[in-house]
Amino acid sequence: MKIPDNYHRFLDLNKFHVFIDRIFFQQQIDIMHKNFDAAIDKLKIIQILLDQHIRDEEELLLPLYTKFVSPIPLGGAVEFYIREHKQIVRYISDFIDKISMWDGNTKNIDLEIVRLFDTYYKFKHLVEHHDTREDTFLYRYLDKMIEKKQKRDVLNLIVERQNRLLDQLNGI
Ligand SMILES: [Fe+2]
Ligand SMILES: [Fe+2]
Repeated sequence: MKIPDNYHRFLDLNKFHVFIDRIFFQQQIDIMHKNFDAAIDKLKIIQILLDQHIRDEEELLLPLYTKFVSPIPLGGAVEFYIREHKQIVRYISDFIDKISMWDGNTKNIDLEIVRLFDTYYKFKHLVEHHDTREDTFLYRYLDKMIEKKQKRDVLNLIVERQNRLLDQLNGI
């Protein structure tokens, strides 16, 4: 697995969002083929990747944002990011719990899959909203306000932290 690592500015972190979206699509294809174990494996990978991405944002980016961006733009309040992170994490763990209960004998499995995909729609809407908020406010304002050297240091640290995940991911 190759995690994006060529971040030159905070807006480049959108590449990570796209990366997660792609794994999510692959997982949907697994579900369409009723390969539930494969879908769960991908959701667990997403869970690990998202967990790290959220920690990067909450531990590294949001403190810089609070310190250097003033006034915080309307629609870019810190609590919005944190609240949406919690919702996103919750969705993924609910998906894993739900699909884990399915096997070849599950009743009305086709209907269950349609229902799951309806919930996926809500999840995707939330993620799209969140990613747009970060693109418009968090990443964009940090790019404007943080000087080059500090930006490079933080982005390098994010890549380092991501790379440490690889062992964990290969174990799945
Ligand atoms: Fe986020
Ligand atoms: Fe993000």
